[in-house]
Amino acid sequence: MSPNEIQGRLALITGASGGIGAACAHQLAEHGVNLALTYATNLTAMNALVADLQDLQNKNAEKHLRISIHKVDVGSADDIERMFQEIDKEHGHRPDILISNAGYGKRVTNIWDCTLEEFDYTLQVNLRASFILTKGVVERMKSQKWGRIVFMSSIAAQGGGINGCHYAASKGGLTGMMKNLSTRLAEFNISVNDVAPAMIGETGMIPNAAAIPEVAAGMPLGRLGTPEETANVVTMLVKTGYMTGQSLLLAGGLK
Ligand SMILES: NC(=O)c1ccc[n+]([C@@H]2O[C@H](COP(=O)([O-])OP(=O)(O)OC[C@H]3O[C@@H](n4cnc5c(N)ncnc54)[C@H](OP(=O)(O)O)[C@@H]3O)[C@@H](O)[C@H]2O)c1
Repeated sequence: MSPNEIQGRLALITGASGGIGAACAHQLAEHGVNLALTYATNLTAMNALVADLQDLQNKNAEKHLRISIHKVDVGSADDIERMFQEIDKEHGHRPDILISNAGYGKRVTNIWDCTLEEFDYTLQVNLRASFILTKGVVERMKSQKWGRIVFMSSIAAQGGGINGCHYAASKGGLTGMMKNLSTRLAEFNISVNDVAPAMIGETGMIPNAAAIPEVAAGMPLGRLGTPEETANVVTMLVKTGYMTGQSLLLAGGLK
């Protein structure tokens, strides 16, 4: 098998009910990857995604995929543990690919307006969850000497963005953890990277340019990014095991 063959692998994508997560699910399904997909509250979006993916399969009988859905609050270690038990039962093994994408970002621009509770909750959902999820997938990846881990960071990790320091801390923490894990896990042929997007439209965070008129007007490329463009980068990372320890900025020319 080629070192980057992903057909028949199992990917866990958290936050698949959201814009970027759903786009990742579409692309990996196109590559014949089985999917464990999570949502937190938006069952309607989750069902719509699964219906789309089933359509794709009906059009291509060769692509028979195993797809499971799981309701998970990634802020809860118990929920994540239950999800792994469901995955064990439905797929017979843990994921080969982890896309830790679920994220939360309440816009609180100034530290004096940001409560300690908001800070703690943001870190719990955006950072602690990726630690727990990685622990849940790493033993299978180590034993089979193949794994791909992608965290969804943000331009905020570098100090940019509009969400505030609590969000920046959570995403910056992800990039630090990614870099450490990439050095520790390389000997097991597990790549660990993150994607750091900015201003991606058609998402719950940024529905369209009208939601952030001043920022959208100042984009060097003159537009927002799309979930599909973000998924392109995720797919590239999943298919390119030689790349590890990288945070890829996807920001329409923003620095
Ligand atoms: N859009 C951007 O410009 C942008 C820029 C930088 C980084 N990001 C990152 O990209 C990732 C995906 O966001 P998106 O842009 O696609 O926005 P989105 O459409 O709002 O999607 C967010 C996803 O995260 C899930 N989620 C939120 N809180 C959760 C929790 N406590 N437990 C489990 N799942 C939870 C949501 O689930 P439900 O909808 O089912 O509740 C949804 O599936 C996030 O990590 C975000 O920080 C986005």
